Amino acid sequence: MSKQEDCISRRVTCRVCGSKKLHKFLSLGPTPLANNFLRKDQLDSPEAFYPLDAYFCSNCYLVQLLDIVYPTVMFKEYAYLTGASKPMRTHFAELTEDVIQNFKLSKNSFVVDIGSNDGTLLQNFSKYGLSTIGIEPASNIAQLAEDKGIQTVNDFFDEECAVRVCKEYGPANVILATNVFAHVDDLENILRGVNHLLSNNGVFIIEVPYLLNLLNNMEFDTIYHEHLSYFAIYPLIYLFRKLGMVVVDVRQVPVHGGSIRVFVQRTGEQSKNVAELLSMEQEAKLDSFQTYLKFGNEVFLLKEKLMRLLKMLKGEGAKITGYGATAKGSTLLNYCKIGTDILDYITDTTPFKQGLYTPGRHIPIFPEKKFHEDPPDYALLLAWNYADEILQKESEYRQKAGKFILPIPEPKVI
Ligand code: TMP
Ligand code: ZN
Repeated sequence: MSKQEDCISRRVTCRVCGSKKLHKFLSLGPTPLANNFLRKDQLDSPEAFYPLDAYFCSNCYLVQLLDIVYPTVMFKEYAYLTGASKPMRTHFAELTEDVIQNFKLSKNSFVVDIGSNDGTLLQNFSKYGLSTIGIEPASNIAQLAEDKGIQTVNDFFDEECAVRVCKEYGPANVILATNVFAHVDDLENILRGVNHLLSNNGVFIIEVPYLLNLLNNMEFDTIYHEHLSYFAIYPLIYLFRKLGMVVVDVRQVPVHGGSIRVFVQRTGEQSKNVAELLSMEQEAKLDSFQTYLKFGNEVFLLKEKLMRLLKMLKGEGAKITGYGATAKGSTLLNYCKIGTDILDYITDTTPFKQGLYTPGRHIPIFPEKKFHEDPPDYALLLAWNYADEILQKESEYRQKAGKFILPIPEPKVI
C-alpha cells in the first residue's frame, strides 16, 4: 500500500451545493478502512488510520465526510458481496419487480447497474430477459459476476465510462445505483455520465441509506470512509435540480437500517411521496445543526453504555463473540475499542472475509460453522440490519440459552 498521506484528500466545500458553511458534529477518531480486513501475516505491519469526522452543510443540509480516501484505495479489491446476505437477494428481487411493473419495461429494454458487485441485482433483470451491463471497479468481484454470466465492465463509472458504454450498447432505459451513490465524491461527474447514457424517457434509480433512520435509530456505525454522503431527500432534490433532473418519486425500503429508493427522470412531476418525505424531514429538524449536535452527544453515551454492559458480562465470565464481520462493525469496534479482550471471534458468511482479521481491532473471522460448534453465551450483533432474519435463523442457539446483544438503537440483551 502507498503512504497514508498519498491516499487521502480533504474537501473544503459541500459536495452538493459548493458552500463552505460546513460544521463538524461527530468525530469517531482515527479509524482504519472498514473493509480492510487483514491476513495473519499483516497483523504486525503498521496499519493506516484516517480521520472519521461527520459534517453538516447549513446551506443544502447535506451530512457528509470531508476527508476523502481515494476510491482506488478502497474499491479496487473489495470484500463485500451482495449475494452473501439472503435478505439482500430477496430485496433485489423485489426492486426488480417494482421497476419492471412501474416503468413498463420490455424485452428490448437495456438496464445498466453502477457498482454492480457480484451481479446479484442484474441476475433478476436478466431472468426477465432484459439486456444488462454491470459496471464494477473491484476486479475480484467483477469476475464473480462474469462467472455467473452477467456481463460486467471492470471500471469506475464516470462520464468517460458512460460515453464508452453508450457508444457500444446504446442508451439505457434504466440506470441503477444501489448502495453506491453515497460512496461518490464527485457526484456531478457521475450525473453527467448518467445524463449521457440515459434514454430520453429513461429512469435513474438510486438506493441510499436514509439519514432520518440513521438519526432515529442511532445507526452511527454506518458512518465509515466509504460513505461520503448521508442523504435525506432535500439535498438530493437540490442536487438533481442543479443538473436539470427531477426526483419524480421516492419510497422507503427496509435495507441497511432503512434506505430510500429514489426515482429520477429528465422531466416529470414530483409525486406526493416526495412531498411527504420533505415534510417529515422538516418536522425532524434535519435543517438544524442542533439536531446533529444532540445526535453526536447521544453516540458518546451509547458507547459508554455498551462498554459497561460488555465489561459487566465479561466480568461474570461470559464468552462473547461477534455476529457478522460488517463494515459498520469495524466502525463500532474501533470507536468503542472492542478487541479480543472482549470478543473471542466473529463469524461471517462471506468467504473472502473468513480466515482474516478485522481492521484495527484484529478480531479473527470464522465461517458460521464455528458459531454452532463453539457457541458463545452472548453474540454481539454487528449485522443488526438483519436482526429479524438472524434471530430466526439462530433459533436453536437461542433455545439453548444463547443470547444476542443488540448494540443499537440502545444496547440491549435479547
Ligand atoms: P451488510 O450489513 O453490509 O449487508 O453486511 C452483512 C455482513 O454480514 C456480510 O459480511 C454477511 C454477513 N452475514 C452473516 O454473516 N450472516 C447472516 O446471516 C447475514 C444475513 C449476513
Ligand atoms: Zn451543501
